Formats: sequence, structure tokens, C-alpha cells
Amino acid sequence: MVTKPDLTVKFCKLELESPYMLSSAPPTCTGEMIMRAFEEGWAGAVTKTIKPDKTAVYDYDNRFGIMGFEDKQMVVFENIEEVTKRPLGTWIKEIKEVKKKYPEKPLIGSLMAEPKEDEWEALARAVSEAGVDMLELNFGCPHGMPERGMGAFCGQRPELIEKLTKASKQGSNVPIMVKLTPNVTDIAFMGKTAEAAGADAISAINTVLGLIGVNIDTFEPMPTVNGKSTFGGMSGPAMKPIAMRCVAQLCQATNIPVSGIGGITTWRDAVEFLLIGANNVQVCTSVMWRGYRLIHDMVDGLTQYLDDKGFSSVKEIQGLTLPKLTAWSKLDKDWEVVAKIDKDKCIKCGICFVGCRDGGYQAIKFEQGKAAEVDEEKCDACSLCTLSCPVPGCITWKRVKK
Ligand SMILES: Cc1cc2nc3c(=O)[nH]c(=O)nc-3n(C[C@H](O)[C@H](O)[C@H](O)COP(=O)(O)O)c2cc1C
Repeated sequence: MVTKPDLTVKFCKLELESPYMLSSAPPTCTGEMIMRAFEEGWAGAVTKTIKPDKTAVYDYDNRFGIMGFEDKQMVVFENIEEVTKRPLGTWIKEIKEVKKKYPEKPLIGSLMAEPKEDEWEALARAVSEAGVDMLELNFGCPHGMPERGMGAFCGQRPELIEKLTKASKQGSNVPIMVKLTPNVTDIAFMGKTAEAAGADAISAINTVLGLIGVNIDTFEPMPTVNGKSTFGGMSGPAMKPIAMRCVAQLCQATNIPVSGIGGITTWRDAVEFLLIGANNVQVCTSVMWRGYRLIHDMVDGLTQYLDDKGFSSVKEIQGLTLPKLTAWSKLDKDWEVVAKIDKDKCIKCGICFVGCRDGGYQAIKFEQGKAAEVDEEKCDACSLCTLSCPVPGCITWKRVKK
């Protein structure tokens, strides 16, 4: 009998059927949407951020922007959207409905309030009593809310992370996860602060503050709200390197589980987050782009990957890469190589030559119609040629003693 790899993950007290959850965002805006996502196969969901009724929320028309690159329509997604506009009572009713219909699927309530301990404690109490399995404290939203002392305003101030995490714990009977902003100098310090304040888990990242672009005909910044705009939150594929750096730093610095978020589009991205130590992953933008059905490819791809590599469970790959991430000064200075071009594979395009001439060490010789050649004396092994060569395996490395 062939046994499939075990995709289940234990996350604090939560049992996830796979490492895939939906993050707090438009795909989790209502109970009905969350239930459809569960039906499709998502293992868990974090609600769109819930706030006290007295906190006014406004969403501008329009509030999204995108940046493409080459053949990709979208590599960065910007939003200037706020948290939920829906009343707390509606959420409480819908959380109960979701938990009744899907008792086995972890549901996490995302929270945001003004930086006052009694507000966080009361909100944590109301949402946890509705029946969620965990709370996520949104200390990360970088637009709109920080102007009013919320979101990233809290995530950028260790004293508020500490105070509000403690207050939320006081009000709740479920584990607390703190969602951090990447818009800080040292996210590891913020993670350690949350851990010391009693957080049971960390999630990262929320969106990266940016400006998606300017319309060069009208001179208007984007996304344009009647001619003007503001800085917004960047998400989507191009944010993955920033998210991975943050998640790895948090995994190195803390002893609580980390839920990895940011730019996850395929099962391969998810595997990378798991390898650097994430306990599970959360997805937003790629689901907004492609729909809940993405989960099928994500589950199938991960299952096949584990099988191909001879792993019997997700747990076996969590953190495998983490010991290989070290300080710059600790990298191997005895690792000396030069580039090696396979003459039979070279298509004589000259891309490596131009790059090396104008952005490298003038170490590649090239004549029209002939294969490129490396001058080993000049090669400084920067890797520009191996990365820009369009033919896989054409330019590789040769060990040398320099
Ligand atoms: C339109 C939009 C709305 C979002 N709203 C929230 C929110 O209410 N609360 C929250 O914690 N994060 C919110 N996020 C951030 C996402 O949960 C996630 O952290 C971020 O988009 C990075 O993941 P991704 O690259 O998979 O989108 C929002 C993101 C987008 C694109």
C-alpha cells in the first residue's frame, strides 16, 4: 500500500490538515467566504481584521494598484484598504456559524483597536468568546490606521507590542499570535518583544509600505483617488524575499512558532517558507488573483514534493534550511571558484559578455558567431554570467585555488 506524506501541522493548540491558511484580507471578509474557502480545501483562515464598533473605517474608491514586469501582469499588488467595515456583532454571529459548520478547521480572529489596553482586552474577550481557535493581533497595517495610532503604529513601538499583547492575553482564553510589520529596522527585536509579552506565535509579514507608481501622462500617483493618492501596502510575488528574510530572522530569534506570509503563489514558495522554519503559511494576494481553487495545486505539489524527496511528513522539512543561514562574516572564504562555459551549450548570444564587460570584471571573451570563453585570471566569481545566461547548465563553476 502506498502511503501519502502527512501534511498535518500542529500550530500551538491548533491541528491543521495542511500548512495552508488564508491570511486576514479580502478572501476572509465574511463567514460565507471563509466557509467556501474551507469547502475548497484551505486548512484554516484568519478573519479580515475586526475592530471595535466605535472605530470608524472608510474604504476609498479605488484602493488597489499593480506593478507588472516583462510578461507578468502583476508582481506587486498595492492596497490602501482599511480593516473590516462590518460590525462586531455580525462577526460574532458569523464566527459561530463557521465554527458550527467546520468545527475541525482552525479559525483565527484578527483584531485591531486603538492603543488602549482596555479596548484590546475587551475585543479579545468578545472575539475569543465567539469561538475562534486563536487570535491574531494586527500590529502591521501600514496605511490609514497608523495615522490614528493603530496597525503599524503599534508594531513599530515595542512598548505597545508588549502592553497590547499582555492586554489581549488577559481578555482571551485562546492562543495569541502577533502579526508584525516589516516596516521596522529590526523585526527580530519586535518578535522577541512579543514573545516576552506572552505571545504564543508570530505571523509575518503584513504589507510593505510603498508607492506603486505614477501615471506619467496625468502626473497622478497611483492608486488614484480623484487625482491624489497616498503610500500603501505592497504584497504579492515580489514581496517574497522581504517576507522570507523577516520570517527567517524571527525563527532564528524566537522560540515560538512563526506563520509565514508574503508573496506565496505556488507550493514551491510554501516549501521555501517551511524550510526556513515557518510552521505554516498564509496566503492573500495570489488567492485574490486566482481564487480559492489555488489550494488544490498547493496541496498536490507539496504532497508530490515530499514524496519525491522521500519525506513522510511536512514536519520533517520545517527549518531544514535555517542552520544554513549565517552571518556574512561566517561564510566560507576558502570556497574559490571561477565560471566555466560549456562550449557545446553556448548559443553565442553574448549576454554573459555584455554583463561581464559593463557590470563585472571584463573576464569573458566573445566574438560574433563563436562560443563565449572565460578568462580565469580575471574572473572574480561574482555569478552575474551564470544568472543571466538563458541556457540552463551552460555556465557553471570550477573549483580553483586563487
Ligand atoms: C487588499 C488587502 C487587504 C488586506 N487587509 C488586511 C487586514 O485587514 N488585516 C491584516 O492583518 N492584513 C491585511 N492584509 C495583508 C495580508 O494579510 C498579507 O499579510 C499581505 O498581503 C502579504 O501576503 P500576500 O503577499 O500573500 O498577499 C491585506 C492585504 C491586501 C492585499
